[in-house]
Amino acid sequence: MKFSSLTDRVRGSAADVWDSHYAAVAAQRRGEDVIVLSVGDPDFSTPPEIIEAAVRALHEGDTHYTEVIGIDKLREAIAQQHQQNCGQDVSRDNVAVTSGAQNALFATSLCLAETGDEMIVLQPMYVTYEATVQASGATLVPVVLDAKSGFKLDADSLRAAITNKTRAIFYASPSNPTGIMLTRDELQAIADVAIEHDLWVVADEVYADIVFESEFHHMAALPGMAERTVTISSLSKSYAMTGWRVGWAVGPTALIRNLEKLSLCMLYGLPGFIQQAGYYALKNAGKDRDAMRDIYRQRRDLLLREFESIPELKALKPDAGMFLMVDVRGTGLSAPDFVQQLYQYCGVSVLDATAFGASAEGFVRISYTIAEADLLEASRRIRAFIESLRRLERLA
Ligand SMILES: Cc1ncc(COP(=O)(O)O)c(C=O)c1O
Repeated sequence: MKFSSLTDRVRGSAADVWDSHYAAVAAQRRGEDVIVLSVGDPDFSTPPEIIEAAVRALHEGDTHYTEVIGIDKLREAIAQQHQQNCGQDVSRDNVAVTSGAQNALFATSLCLAETGDEMIVLQPMYVTYEATVQASGATLVPVVLDAKSGFKLDADSLRAAITNKTRAIFYASPSNPTGIMLTRDELQAIADVAIEHDLWVVADEVYADIVFESEFHHMAALPGMAERTVTISSLSKSYAMTGWRVGWAVGPTALIRNLEKLSLCMLYGLPGFIQQAGYYALKNAGKDRDAMRDIYRQRRDLLLREFESIPELKALKPDAGMFLMVDVRGTGLSAPDFVQQLYQYCGVSVLDATAFGASAEGFVRISYTIAEADLLEASRRIRAFIESLRRLERLA
């Protein structure tokens, strides 16, 4: 039987990078001594009072269809937060509730572009972006953030990538995998290009609540950008709610109306009790969110300290999030070999960052989504692995 070309476009090219991660998770389930640092799912449980809000809503009978675009009070809470962040006058009419940020990214991509168009994506990029952008029929045009510059944006390469087919610029800041944020100047460079060429900007901000010390700047807050920016976020990372699938897009009302039409045929509304819990989280669980952020920061600092004394590994200090990028080329191994051997000999699973784009070649992504004691054990094993590489080198 035949399938449509869409199924090819959404296949993505980095799928096999997860094989080693799935193998590690399976081994862990079998009870083997494996430490999994290859996943982007917070280890924290969802704060209990958020769970209680969902249970309460269930008992109160919130088990029916809901408004496809999201319940009013959740949309209002998201609009209020956006207004505080961006200083923009927005209402619930600017908000679409979606099944996680991923669903918002996908639906937005379908609304913004079609076959023959081009969409620019800053690279390294989150693994689903390739399929998400290509599902629309548009061509993905990567703009590479060079590892040598610390994954900074070069405004000239952005300008050089623009053609008369360009419709939008996609990026995640803070980034997955790098944890680096775009600075105010970098955002302004994107904004200048977008305004000059009348482009959309899709700003994926799922890690914006897990920023450690610097100030986070929102694209929609820049002059002239609210009307062309789609801000995408979710509760997944910041409130340890990945499985609840509460996300959203904030943007111009015309876009939100189009997202609603898409949601009607793709999602048909998020469960009401889930939205009630999401509302509770946004309104009442800021302290839990900040406490988790502080723990991520301690873990990041622990890993940075550990790797400082291993000259073969060059860690890149993340501004935010739950991932640390480490350049492993100093070990003499390629990233795929490093990943494979580290797992084989030491039972530590990390991710080859090439999955996020060629510009991350030579890096591995290490998630700090496990407790400090386990992170210390993981870094002890990594150190032992590097020492064994040194011994082999001396023997050679
Ligand atoms: C940059 C980025 N965007 C979107 C997502 C998807 O998030 P959600 O769980 O809200 O769909 C992820 C998840 O890892 C991510 O890292």
